[in-house]
Amino acid sequence: MLRVHSLNAFYDRTQVLHDINLRVDEREIVGLVGANGAGKSSTLLSIAGIKTRMEVVRNNIAKVIQEKGNARAARILSLGSGPAREVELFLAGASLKNRRAEFTLIDQEQSALSYAVEKTYPHVLNTKGQARVQCLNMSFTDILRGTGSLASLPPQDLIYSVGLIDYLADRRAHALARRLYETLAPGGLLIIGNMNETALSNLWPMEFITDWTLYYRSDAQMIAWTEGLDPEMARTELESTERVRLLFVRKR
Ligand SMILES: C[S@@+](CC[C@H](N)C(=O)[O-])C[C@H]1O[C@@H](n2cnc3c(N)ncnc32)[C@H](O)[C@@H]1O
Repeated sequence: MLRVHSLNAFYDRTQVLHDINLRVDEREIVGLVGANGAGKSSTLLSIAGIKTRMEVVRNNIAKVIQEKGNARAARILSLGSGPAREVELFLAGASLKNRRAEFTLIDQEQSALSYAVEKTYPHVLNTKGQARVQCLNMSFTDILRGTGSLASLPPQDLIYSVGLIDYLADRRAHALARRLYETLAPGGLLIIGNMNETALSNLWPMEFITDWTLYYRSDAQMIAWTEGLDPEMARTELESTERVRLLFVRKR
C-alpha cells in the first residue's frame, strides 16, 4: 500500500531524515511515535510531497526577488496560503541585501493567517522594512466573483497556490487559474501545484488521514487551464517525489 525507500530530507543544508525505509501493507494501521523534533512531521510531509513542493516555491520566491532588482519591491501572493511556512523559511534564511519584497497571504481561515503572521513577524522585523507580509482573509470564491480585495492589489510578480486547487473541479480550477493570471504583472510568474496523476495508484497519505478527496491531474489537464491566455511560457514540472505537479505560467 505504501512503500518508502531511503528517504532523506534536508532543511537547507541540515539533513533531518536519514535513509528512512517504511512499509505499510493493506489494512495495516501504523503509528509514528517520537519525541518533539524527532522528524515525525518531516517524514509525513516528505512522503506526501508537501515538503518538496514547498521547496520549489521557496526557490522561486528567492529567484523572483533577485530578478526584480531594487527598482521596487517584488510583489508575491499566495492563495490558500495556510501557515505559509515557505515564507517563514525564506525570510528566516534570506539575506535580502538591497532587495525588497511584499508578501500577500490569502486564506479563508483566519487562524491560519494569524499563525503565519506570528511566525513571519520576527523575520520581517529583522529585515528592517525590506520585507512586508499582509494578509487577506477571504475565499477564492470572492476572487471568482470579482468581489473581495484582490482587485485593489497592484499587479503581482509571483502568484502561487499549492494545496488548494487539487480540491476544485476543473471548471472552477480553470476559472481561478485565469483570474490569478490576470492579476500578474507583465513578466510575472504563476505557479499552481496539484497532486500528480500517475498510472499507478497514487493515493495521498492525507486522504486516508483526513477523508478529503482530491483531483489528481496530468500535464495536459493543467496546461489546458492556460487556454486563451497567450502566455510567454506554460509548462508543468514534477517535484522530486513526483507526487505533486507544478504548473508554471509566465505572463508576456
Ligand atoms: C492543504 S492547505 C495548503 C496550505 C499551503 N499552501 C501549503 O502548501 O502547505 C489548503 C489551504 O487552503 C485554504 N482554503 C481552503 N478553502 C479555501 C477557500 N475557499 N479560499 C481560500 N482559502 C481556502 C485552507 O484554509 C488551507 O489553509
